[in-house]
Amino acid sequence: MSRLKLAVLGSGAGSNMQSIVDAIERGELDAEIALVVADFPDAKILDRGRKHGIESVYLDCAPYKTKLEGPAEDKLVEMLKSRGVDTVVLAGFMRIVKPKLLAAFPNRVINIHPALLPAFPGVHSWTQALDYGCKVAGVTVHFVDAGTDSGPIIVQKCVKVEEDDTPETLHARIQVQEHIAYPEALRIIASGDYTIEGRRVRIGKAS
Ligand code: GRF
Repeated sequence: MSRLKLAVLGSGAGSNMQSIVDAIERGELDAEIALVVADFPDAKILDRGRKHGIESVYLDCAPYKTKLEGPAEDKLVEMLKSRGVDTVVLAGFMRIVKPKLLAAFPNRVINIHPALLPAFPGVHSWTQALDYGCKVAGVTVHFVDAGTDSGPIIVQKCVKVEEDDTPETLHARIQVQEHIAYPEALRIIASGDYTIEGRRVRIGKAS
């Protein structure tokens, strides 16, 4: 067991960051959030972080619109290292992360995706699931690798698709499961009681 020192990166509302804060405050997760980072200055995730006394900063990711690379990536890695962060939590961060960040935190960058991967990577995955006619949808927490939504899976939760679901109602129920899944995945990381064997994360198998 080790107390995690987290940085949370987001672009929007920050409800997943809130679920992690709440789990820590309830004593259900042995972690501290050292830093919150957003790529929009007015992202609500920054307000949430500040409300909880967490250093919360805007990172200007120019000139790129969809990836974290170049000067912003350099600055972020420097910030994370200087604050002693050991685990990077992507929570609604709408940018592709690149090899420099991944190399600085090997197997320590985690993402949440609102679908049962490998189905429906990318954006608006709950709408994709609905349009496809899926009877179940869900959420995946996974290690980040060089691909998009493709790294080894830590936790998944299912959500039943209801006959009268709209993208909004389905996404809302998926989010309820996200807020359970992210703290659960981070508890597994904190326990250290797992191994990554190829694509498989074997929990309770650490030698
Ligand atoms: C979540 O649906 C998450 O799965 C996706 O982006 C959304 C972020 O929501 N990657 P929030 O900012 O945590 O409320």
